Amino acid sequence: MKTLFMLLVVLSSLIGRVAIAQDKFSGEDGYRLWLKYDLIEDNAQRQQYSHTLQSLFIAPQSDTTRIIQHELKIASHGLLSQPIKPAANAKQASLLMLKSDSPELKQFKIHHDLNKLGQEGYLLHSTADQMLIIANSDIGLLYGTFDLLRRIQTGQSLNKLDHIEIPKIQLRMLNHWDDLDRHTERGYAGESIFDWHKLPDYKEQRYYDYARANASIGINGIVPNNVNANSLILTPAYLQKVKALADIFRPYGIKVYLSIKFSSPQQIGGLDTSDPAEQKVHDWWQKKTDEIYALIPDFGGYLVKANSEGQPGPGDYGRTHAEGANMLARALKPHGGNVLWRAFVYAHDAKAERSLQAYNEFVPLDGKFDDNVSVQVKNGPIDFQPREPFSPLFGAMPHTSLAMEFQITQEYLGFSTHLAYLGTLYEEALDADTHTEGPGSTVAKVIDGSLDSLPLTAMAGVANIGMDRNWTGHIFGQANWYVFGRLAWNDQLSAADIADEWIKMTLTDDKQSVNTIKDMMMGSRELIVDYMTPLGLHHLMDTGHHYGPGPWVDNLGRADWNPTYYHRADEQGIGLDRTASGTNAISQYAPYWQKIFADPKKTPQELLLWFHHLSWDYTMPSGDTLWNELVKHYYHGAKGVEKMQKQWLAIKDQIEPNQFEQVKMALAIQVKEAKWWRDACVLYFQTFSKRPIPEGLERPEHSLEYYQSLKFPYAPGQG
Ligand code: GCU
Repeated sequence: MKTLFMLLVVLSSLIGRVAIAQDKFSGEDGYRLWLKYDLIEDNAQRQQYSHTLQSLFIAPQSDTTRIIQHELKIASHGLLSQPIKPAANAKQASLLMLKSDSPELKQFKIHHDLNKLGQEGYLLHSTADQMLIIANSDIGLLYGTFDLLRRIQTGQSLNKLDHIEIPKIQLRMLNHWDDLDRHTERGYAGESIFDWHKLPDYKEQRYYDYARANASIGINGIVPNNVNANSLILTPAYLQKVKALADIFRPYGIKVYLSIKFSSPQQIGGLDTSDPAEQKVHDWWQKKTDEIYALIPDFGGYLVKANSEGQPGPGDYGRTHAEGANMLARALKPHGGNVLWRAFVYAHDAKAERSLQAYNEFVPLDGKFDDNVSVQVKNGPIDFQPREPFSPLFGAMPHTSLAMEFQITQEYLGFSTHLAYLGTLYEEALDADTHTEGPGSTVAKVIDGSLDSLPLTAMAGVANIGMDRNWTGHIFGQANWYVFGRLAWNDQLSAADIADEWIKMTLTDDKQSVNTIKDMMMGSRELIVDYMTPLGLHHLMDTGHHYGPGPWVDNLGRADWNPTYYHRADEQGIGLDRTASGTNAISQYAPYWQKIFADPKKTPQELLLWFHHLSWDYTMPSGDTLWNELVKHYYHGAKGVEKMQKQWLAIKDQIEPNQFEQVKMALAIQVKEAKWWRDACVLYFQTFSKRPIPEGLERPEHSLEYYQSLKFPYAPGQG
């Protein structure tokens, strides 16, 4: 009897423990992103914040201030389990939201010139017992609110704050490559969140949640439709739908832009031409633009993919990109709108190697674009590969506003099942020093306008968002949306610090787990480079869907669509010679880089085969041969994913079960696919090198023929 009693005691205490262990979890599946606002467990910390979020003074009422009040209400309730009360007057409030012209501000000693905050900046200022957020606009107050909440979520002190934030980049935009039928080109998180069929009348809750998440990281512009545009978007019925979205997004500080098809005057306007030199084409665009602004007074402008991958453009009429862009810019100018004209072009008939083409077409047009045009350039000269050198356009057009285009969706980085934190990729691209105006001419300075004092600045990210409950398919995909927004706000922030913030807000505040996850994230992109395209290799993916390896593909309609065009493997060696003895792409870089890239011994090892064709026995800095080193990189990448998997499994107790399982399943896929990439590429390159896989490395599981036979007709996201 006594034993039975003891057993029951032990059992019930165990059950109790399980219940307690589960209690700290809220059942999160990822929908709440980084805005979870779960209760802060540390009492002392909670008390500090409880004081700040006791009572709120905010005046006067607008849609945006109502959003602020609601945000503070749910944050206070969730993080602190206390209501935030409205304060009768400024004196009694613990938290004050003040516009810079409000009379209440006079009682405080503020030593800043508030004009410089502009329309989006804010000041966080704390006194002994009050916290102030000061801005020139309600949107500035909203950004300040999210900053304050981020500090609370990440456990930072609020004492003696006197901190100014002003965004470094004006247009911080998401580009959705979403079609009107909800298919998403290069989307791996379910169908498009924009339900065009049910708009304008049916306004999904998701639109508001999406706007709120964007506002929390400072994104202020979205393009809801694909750059491979459908001209129907400009018809009256669709413009009503666009207006409905714009009305939802406005109080969150987000403007709507549209991708347009250059041939719209013909396709929906009944004209017989779309030639930008024709007055009637100008008139058509002016009328269409006026029509849009009558519906959406703060419409952002147009994003254009022209004369690229079969899209129509001014080149169809012998006109330049500048002539095409300026026609649209002039229609937008009276309304304050902008054109984002993409530089991702490579012509069907061009003789030049593909990486040269954007520069060849655009650099002669420097200074010819109107001041409300920004030329939107992908970070690298080819196409969002796991690693590319920076595009030589950065720094080469000092009289033209250049926008950065990053890809957030992982078209070439494992879709939504590979954990790849892209903060390190973005940081690498932004920190790259173009040397075009001497040392320190970084890509970031080109983008944020500080290098050449250009007034229009922009950064766009190709979104990874879809209808999946967790928004991005992979929980860690959320980190890429997050880091994009944070870097667009301030291109000087560090990828590591942003990862830290995101982990604490999204996954756990357990110190050791935060460090583990950060370690996984910070190394994750390099692992992908290693198991897909090490040492500067690129464009080795399979055809069309771009899923999985296809280095052998050599039969596509255009030479520069084939992986063989890029790796040039033969019996002698591997790599694409882009020096003067080859395509001379290095000539597009500043002399500083030309000297470095011309010499394989000086070229950074991670870009070696981007710029050079080298023999299989070429001696690497390690003393090993190129072949051995290449294979070792492939194996290192795949091995690293196994390590990430172990790291994740070890922190199970600290992560919400649902989020944990999602990542666990994805990592299991990634482990398999990393080996698939490794084995397929190594076996294929071995047919040229005719050298063995170095001792001690496991043999590939299947034959090359097996990997070549794999077909994936329904892989998601195809163009
Ligand atoms: C890539 C991508 C296409 C996309 C294109 C672009 O080539 O595969 O789907 O349309 O980039 O950026 O326009």
